[in-house]
Amino acid sequence: MRLGNARKAIGNVQTGPLGPVFFIAMLGTLLLPPPAAAQTIEEKAQLCAACHGENGIPQEKTTPVIWGQYQGYLYLELRDYKSGARKNAIMAGMAQGLTEKDIENISEYFYVQPGNLASRY
Ligand code: HEC
Repeated sequence: MRLGNARKAIGNVQTGPLGPVFFIAMLGTLLLPPPAAAQTIEEKAQLCAACHGENGIPQEKTTPVIWGQYQGYLYLELRDYKSGARKNAIMAGMAQGLTEKDIENISEYFYVQPGNLASRY
């Protein structure tokens, strides 16, 4: 909630008979830190940047480009690293931390990044 809205809300609730109660409840929601939010796909993808590059250019020549890669390919490779069908110690470790849904989302995330690996239309 933006501060302006919060002030407005506090202003409104103070007028009712239960105003002070709501006021204290409101203060609580303003002062308590938000519950630890689940990691977003962007946050998860930040881990990948350490090797696959901040801007799609991998740090090492032996690390493949994944920005702009076909979504289906990324999905299958990540799934295979996770199951062990494709063996690589580094990527096996990375894929273990991803759920099936993460793998879907992260594949889409890298597919839509600028890059020229996948040909479009
Ligand atoms: C510590 C370095 C490192 C990190 C971090 C890392 N990777 Fe990798 N990744 C590699 C290397 C090295 C390979 C090549 C492995 C091989 O030969 O199979 C690779 C391969 C891949 C491949 C297969 C690409 C291809 O062309 O076959 C995909 C997909 C991939 N990584 C996705 C990811 C994603 C998504 C993340 C983040 C969740 C990630 N990687 C994090 C180093 C890393």
